[in-house]
Amino acid sequence: MNAPPTTLPWNTVWVIGASFGIGKAFAELCADRGATVIASARSAEALDEMAAANGQIVPLPFDVTDAAAVGKAVAEIQNRNLLPDLTLYNAGIYEPVTGWRVDADLFARHMAVNYMGAVHVLDGLLPALVARGSGHVALVASLSGYFGLPKATAYGPSKAALISLCESLKLEIDAAGLDLSVVNPGFVETRLTDKNDFKMPYLVSPEDAARQMLEGLLRKDFEIAFPKPFVRRMKLTRLLPYSLYFKVMKRLVS
Ligand SMILES: NC(=O)c1ccc[n+]([C@@H]2O[C@H](COP(=O)([O-])OP(=O)(O)OC[C@H]3O[C@@H](n4cnc5c(N)ncnc54)[C@H](OP(=O)(O)O)[C@@H]3O)[C@@H](O)[C@H]2O)c1
Repeated sequence: MNAPPTTLPWNTVWVIGASFGIGKAFAELCADRGATVIASARSAEALDEMAAANGQIVPLPFDVTDAAAVGKAVAEIQNRNLLPDLTLYNAGIYEPVTGWRVDADLFARHMAVNYMGAVHVLDGLLPALVARGSGHVALVASLSGYFGLPKATAYGPSKAALISLCESLKLEIDAAGLDLSVVNPGFVETRLTDKNDFKMPYLVSPEDAARQMLEGLLRKDFEIAFPKPFVRRMKLTRLLPYSLYFKVMKRLVS
C-alpha cells in the first residue's frame, strides 16, 4: 500500500545527525508527517531501528568527518532520486572543558564534526541543489555560538563558525534560488547535555525542540532560535560591554 502524501512542503528530508536526540526527534516528526526521511549518522544500528519502526525512514550511515564518505552519500542520494527538498545538518559533539588547558586534539574534533562536517555536506550537496534550482538547507548551530561561554571553550567556537558561515552564505544562497536557515537551540535534554554538571536554564525536550525547528523551517525563517525567553536573555547579554559581560560570566561559574 502506498503511504499517504506528505503534509509537509518537502517530499524528501535529509537529516544528518539523525540517530539520537534532536535529530532523531526531527526525523521521526517529518516521517510521521509523510515525508521520506533520509536518516544519517555513524550509528548504523540506531538508524536501522528507526527505519524498522517507520517505513518513511531511509537509513544512510556515514561519518561527516570523512569528506569522501559524504561525497559518496550525496551520489547515492542522487542515484536513488532522493535529492532532498530540506536538509538539516544536525551532527554535533560537545565535551565540556574546565580550566585553562587547551587540548588541540579535542578542539580539532569539535571543528571536524560541528563545522567541517557541515562544510563537506555543503560542498557535496549545493551544486546539485543549485542545478535543480530548489532546496532548503538548515545548519544546527547553538545559542552558545553567540559569544564565548565558560566550559564551551572547544564547542562554542565551532558553533560561532557555523553561524558566521550561514550569515556569509545567505545572500548567495538566496541568489541561487535556495533557502538557508541557521538553527540556534538553547539547552535540550539529550545525551550531549547529560554531561553538564550545572543547572541548565529553560531546558526543553528533543521533541519540543524538533517541533519548534519544524515551525521555523516551515516559515523559512533565517534564524530559528528557542526557547524564546532564553534567546531574549542571550541577545541582550550579547550587547553588554565586556566590563559588564565578564561580571555576568563570573557569576555563572562561581
Ligand atoms: N542538546 C543541546 O542542548 C543542544 C543545544 C544547542 C545545539 N545543539 C546541537 O544540536 C545537535 C544535536 O545535538 P543533540 O543534543 O541531539 O546530541 P546527540 O543526541 O548526541 O546527537 C548528535 C547527533 O550527531 C551525530 N554525529 C556525531 N558525530 C558524527 C559524525 N562524526 N558523523 C555523523 N554523525 C555524527 C550523532 O550520531 P552518531 O553518534 O551515531 O554518529 C547524533 O545523531 C548538535 O549539533 C548539537 O551541537 C544541541
